Amino acid sequence: MEDQADPDVRRAERLAQQVRRDIHKMRAFLRFRAVEEPDGSERYVAWFEPDHHILRANAGFFVRRFTTMRWSILTPLGSLHWDGETLQEGPPAQAADAPAGDPTEDLWRGYYASIFNPARLKVGAMLKEMPRRYWKNMPEAALIPQLIATAQAREARMVAQGSPEMGERPDTLREIAELVQACRRCPIGCNGTQAVAGEGPDRAGLMIVGEQPGDVEEQAGRPFVGPAGQVLRTHLDEAGIDLPRAYLTNAVKHFKFTPTGKRRLHQSPTAGEIDTCRWWLEGERVLVRPRVILALGASAARGLLGRTVSVQKERGRPHVLEDGAELWITTHPSYLLRLTDEARATEERRFAEDLRAVAGRVRVQAA
Ligand code: URA
Repeated sequence: MEDQADPDVRRAERLAQQVRRDIHKMRAFLRFRAVEEPDGSERYVAWFEPDHHILRANAGFFVRRFTTMRWSILTPLGSLHWDGETLQEGPPAQAADAPAGDPTEDLWRGYYASIFNPARLKVGAMLKEMPRRYWKNMPEAALIPQLIATAQAREARMVAQGSPEMGERPDTLREIAELVQACRRCPIGCNGTQAVAGEGPDRAGLMIVGEQPGDVEEQAGRPFVGPAGQVLRTHLDEAGIDLPRAYLTNAVKHFKFTPTGKRRLHQSPTAGEIDTCRWWLEGERVLVRPRVILALGASAARGLLGRTVSVQKERGRPHVLEDGAELWITTHPSYLLRLTDEARATEERRFAEDLRAVAGRVRVQAA
């Protein structure tokens, strides 16, 4: 087995690779559909046709991934049934044993169509990653031929009416708020959500920058109006920072999320997405001209500094930006929400301290 040149070893490795690939494809392309159980509860049932006997090898993955759901995976080689506590193996099944669709599929298809970026389409690579034989059990696959066929026209339309050219800076905050809606420069901008621009006076001594709008903010079209916003507003108040006099915005203007059941789970933007969106943040800075900027968390700090930032190492002191403004970095309020009570008390004290330092600098700069 250690002789990689041996034809039998090579063949065994090729076969093992095919099985590994099948395991991976099952994880990626299996689609659950909701069915109502006789007791009124929900069970998710999926039909999948693997090439190999991989069901047992994949059982642990699906149990860990969907621990709190009740689900069944049906295949022609056997089935698995999870009730939230125990896993049972069952006999082979047929496609007709699984539901043909469920009411959320239209939503899923709508989401898939909206994140499908025609400007990034590479049909060959896509087919290699998602071979056609899997399509028949994937609700979104029915859209693919149409999305491919219309990709060129959609891309041309995007260029014509969508993203304003880089370099042409909007002259007003209102213009930024309008134009950012059409921004499709990164995948988040293409996910069909509304962009959330900053809010506050046209000129402000203090600019507060978060990461990206959350679920509540995206629906409201306003920054920091959800749970993290509550924490932030309380602390700003306690530090003596008058929020209506500050400009509040985010490093990334669209909401990045993963749909899970009925919820949209926040996903952090990548460094590339933050860097792409910096153009809008800089546009806001040029107009608002804050003398002090507070970055909440590492994504916000990256949006302002253009590099990876360690919040713990770089908080608590000013960083002078190229236009002379002072940048202060602290944690993101949603981080505080995720901590246990004891750790939260300590972190909230440090957060409050950072905000008091910023309040002091705003007063000095305004004097
Ligand atoms: N978190 C952010 O970073 N920004 C918001 O607007 C809301 C939550």
